[in-house]
Amino acid sequence: MQTIRTKLTKIMEKAFEACGYDTKYAGVIRSDRPDLCQFQCNGALAAAKEYRKAPAMIAGDVIKQLEGESCFKSVALAMPGFINIIVTDEYLCEHMKEMAADDNTGIPKFEQDKTLIVDYGGPNVAKPLHVGHLRSAIIGESLKRLAKTLGNKTIGDIHLGDWGLQMGLVISEIEERMPELVYFDESYEGEYPESAPVDFAELSEIYPSASKKSKEDEAFKQKAQKATKELQEKRRGYYELWKRLREVSVNDLKGSYRKLNVDFEAWLGESDADEYIAPMIEKLVADGFAYESDGALVVDLALEDDKEPIPPILITKSDGSQLYGTTDLATIIQREKDFKPDEYWYVIDNRQALHIRQVTRCAKKAGLLPEKTPVTFVGFGTMNGKDGKPYKTRDGGIMKLSDLIATVTDAAAERMRSGAFTSEFSEQQQKSAAEKIGVAALKFGDLINHRTKDYIFDIDRFLSFEGKTGPYLLYCVVRIRSLLAKAKEAGMTYSAMEDVYCDSARDVLLTMMAIPDSLYKAYDEKAPNIVCECAYDLAASYNKFYNENKILGETDEAKRATWLALSAAVEKMLAYLLDILAIEIPERM
Ligand code: ARG
Repeated sequence: MQTIRTKLTKIMEKAFEACGYDTKYAGVIRSDRPDLCQFQCNGALAAAKEYRKAPAMIAGDVIKQLEGESCFKSVALAMPGFINIIVTDEYLCEHMKEMAADDNTGIPKFEQDKTLIVDYGGPNVAKPLHVGHLRSAIIGESLKRLAKTLGNKTIGDIHLGDWGLQMGLVISEIEERMPELVYFDESYEGEYPESAPVDFAELSEIYPSASKKSKEDEAFKQKAQKATKELQEKRRGYYELWKRLREVSVNDLKGSYRKLNVDFEAWLGESDADEYIAPMIEKLVADGFAYESDGALVVDLALEDDKEPIPPILITKSDGSQLYGTTDLATIIQREKDFKPDEYWYVIDNRQALHIRQVTRCAKKAGLLPEKTPVTFVGFGTMNGKDGKPYKTRDGGIMKLSDLIATVTDAAAERMRSGAFTSEFSEQQQKSAAEKIGVAALKFGDLINHRTKDYIFDIDRFLSFEGKTGPYLLYCVVRIRSLLAKAKEAGMTYSAMEDVYCDSARDVLLTMMAIPDSLYKAYDEKAPNIVCECAYDLAASYNKFYNENKILGETDEAKRATWLALSAAVEKMLAYLLDILAIEIPERM
C-alpha cells in the first residue's frame, strides 16, 4: 500500500504538471512546524531557479490548481514559497482504515526481494560471551527483522568462532586432565561415546584455565597450537571431541539466545568455511593476488585514492597457520555458493571495521565476491558500566549472558514486588513477566542509543516507567490489550474510525502515519534507535490521548467505537514495532 506521503505527493505532482512545472519538485514531506500544518511541499523554492520565477508565484499557481481537491482542509502559501498542507479528518480516517486492514500494518514493501546475509552474534565456542556479543545479537536481530518486514529475504548467520586456537587450548587441557579418554588414543578405531566428556559448566571453567596456562607455560602453548592444527586437519579423535564440545556450547547458547528472543536461520561457524580455505589459497597464489612476504602470505589492498590507508591482508602466517581474515574470506565463498546473497551486513563491534574492510576489499579484488555486491559494516560501541569501562559482572569477571539475564530479571521482579506493577499474578505469571520485562528493559536500553555510540548499562533507568524505556512501551500495549478485552466483555463493538473528534486523537494518527518513512530511514541507516523512537512517539501520543479521554466510559456510542478502533490500531502498530525490536510482550504487568 502507499504511504500517506506518497499519496499526497502524487496529488501534488498532478498539480505541478498541470501548471507546467516538473513533477520532481512536487515532493510532500511531514511538516517540521506541526503548529502550522501537517505536511508541506518545499519544491517551489527549488523550482524558482529553473523557471526564473519567484517561488511564491510558483507555489501560488500550484495552490490554485489544487482548489477543489477534497482531501485538503487547507493548502496555504507561507513565504517565501512553502506550501503548507492540512488534510481533512475524513482523509486521515480513510487512510487509517487502509493501514489497519493492510497485512503489513500499512508499511510498504520493496518491490524486489533481495537476499541479505546478516552476520551477527559471533560468539566463540567454549569461550565466555562478552558485551560485544550481546550487542551484536540485540542489534543484529532487530536489523534483520526490519529488513525482513520491508520485504527482503534475510539469512541471519551466527558465524560461530569454532575453529580457532581456543579449541586447541580446550582439547589440550582436557587431554592433560583426562588422558585416558579414547579421543586421545590415535590407534583407536571404534565408535566414540555419544555425549561429551564435560558439561557446559566444566567447559566454561576449562577455557580460562587453559588460556591462563598457555601464557605461563610455553610447552603447553605449543601443544595447544599443535592440537589446533591437527584439529583443522581433522585428526579423528580431536575432531570427534570437538564436535561434542561444540554441541555442548551451542546448546547453552541456544538457551541464552532464546531468552533474548534472538534466533538464527543459519548456525554456521568458521569451521564450515574450512573446506574452502586450501583451494582458495591456491587460487589466490595462482592468480597472482597473494605473494610471500617474510614467509607469510599476503594480498595487497591499497588503492591510490584511499582516504584511509588499508594494510595488506594476511592469509597465512610464516608457520603456515591461517588467520581470522582467512576464514572470513572462505566464508564468503561458502555464502556465495550456498545463499547467493545480494548484500552482506556484518554486525560487529567498531574495532573490527578495518578487518571487514580488508576482507571485503580482498574478496572483491580476487573475484570471490562480485564487485557490485554491497557489503556494510554495521559497527557498534560498547556497553559500559557506571565506571565508564566495558561492563563487567559484580565480581569484576567477564559477563556471562545467563548472569546478565538473571540480573535484569531479578531487578524487574523486585520492581513488580515493590508495587510498580499491578500484582494479583500467579507465581508462574510473575516469573515469566519479570523475564520479559527485564529483557525488554535491557534490549530497549541498548537499542535506543545510536548503535555506534557507547552507553552506560543502568538497570534502574532501563526499568523506569517514565521516558524512553522498554517497560514504558510494554505497559502501553498491555494496557490497551486489557482495555480492548474489557470492551469485548462488555459487548462493545467497533469497526473503523469514522471521525477524529479531538486534537490528541488526530496527533496519534499523524504520528502513526509517519512511521513507514521512519522505518525506511532506519533501514537505510541501519539504525534500530529510529524504530525505538517511532515506538516511543506513538506510545507517548496515545498516552496523551488516553489521559485526556474516557474510553470505556464514553456514552456517545460512535465516539466510543472510534476510540476503541484507534486503540486497536495503536496496539497493532506497537506490537509490530516491538516485534521488529524482538521485544516480547508479557500478558500482564
Ligand atoms: N567471533 C568473533 C569475535 O568474537 C566475531 C565474529 C564476527 N563475524 C565475522 N564474520 N567476523 O570477535
